[in-house]
Amino acid sequence: MRIGVLCSRIRPEEKLLFTEIRKRGIELVQIDTRKAVFDLEKKNFYDTDAILERSISHTHAVYITKILEDRNILSINSYDVIKNCGDKVVTSLLLDKFNVPTTKVRVAFTPESALKAIEEMGYPVVIKPGVGSWGRLISKIETKSAAEAILEHKATLGTYHHSIFYIQEYVDKPGRDIRAFVVGDKTICAIYRSSEHWITNTARGGEAKNCPVTPELDELCTRAALAVGGGIVAIDVFETEGSRLIVNEINHTMEFRNSIKTTGVNIPEKMIDYVIEQIKNGKGN
Ligand SMILES: Nc1ncnc2c1ncn2[C@@H]1O[C@H](COP(=O)(O)OP(=O)(O)O)[C@@H](O)[C@H]1O
Ligand SMILES: [Mg+2]
Repeated sequence: MRIGVLCSRIRPEEKLLFTEIRKRGIELVQIDTRKAVFDLEKKNFYDTDAILERSISHTHAVYITKILEDRNILSINSYDVIKNCGDKVVTSLLLDKFNVPTTKVRVAFTPESALKAIEEMGYPVVIKPGVGSWGRLISKIETKSAAEAILEHKATLGTYHHSIFYIQEYVDKPGRDIRAFVVGDKTICAIYRSSEHWITNTARGGEAKNCPVTPELDELCTRAALAVGGGIVAIDVFETEGSRLIVNEINHTMEFRNSIKTTGVNIPEKMIDYVIEQIKNGKGN
């Protein structure tokens, strides 16, 4: 068996996945997206049984998995899952379509219409780029003057992505959110991410603690994963004031370095188990 891992920068997660693949006597084919060239006349690449997508660039992942899948190469996650999770507008639409509880969202395309949407929704709101991660460039807006300033900055200084205004209600969460890891049809573990700051990403200093996977959390997360197409995903969940659980967003190339010891679950092992299972089920052909 040969498993390809599509990656750019090698993070601790990729190292753990490499070890997990090699430990089983499976041949590892490391594919650096920064060096790869795809000759579109070719019908096959790398001769692997599956490719595990671990690229840091969402855009690169979208194109490469499309190229691979068109050649019947099993890609995990799939092109659809990557497209659905990589864009928060699309994720919100799918969560809504499949009746998965989530935050209220409005989408607008000019600063004027975005301001109108914000005023109607009521302060505070959160505005974030549709494509992005690690809590970057997301703003909590509490007043009209702040809204006007941020919208003007985005329209003037931002790239094309910043003229798609993704506006979300602010959820007054209890100093933490939940990050749950779903592999296939199971929530394998979860962590609380606590912070003094309203942005709780561990990449921004949020502290990780084990979060028990209750039947309620499992049901919400497996349904959310299914809505975006399944596979291996990490779901951000908020506890609302009434202790209801709602989905914030879904990540398709999950980071888990802070969650193995914290939860006692060997996440990379479960991921590679899943890849092998998919290969055995002949999902690529
Ligand atoms: N609507 C919101 N209400 C309250 N907190 C939020 C909201 N949106 C984001 N956050 C906080 O910011 C963090 C990062 O936002 P998220 O939507 O997950 O973007 P990213 O893709 O950058 O991780 C969340 O984990 C949460 O702590
Ligand atoms: Mg997040």
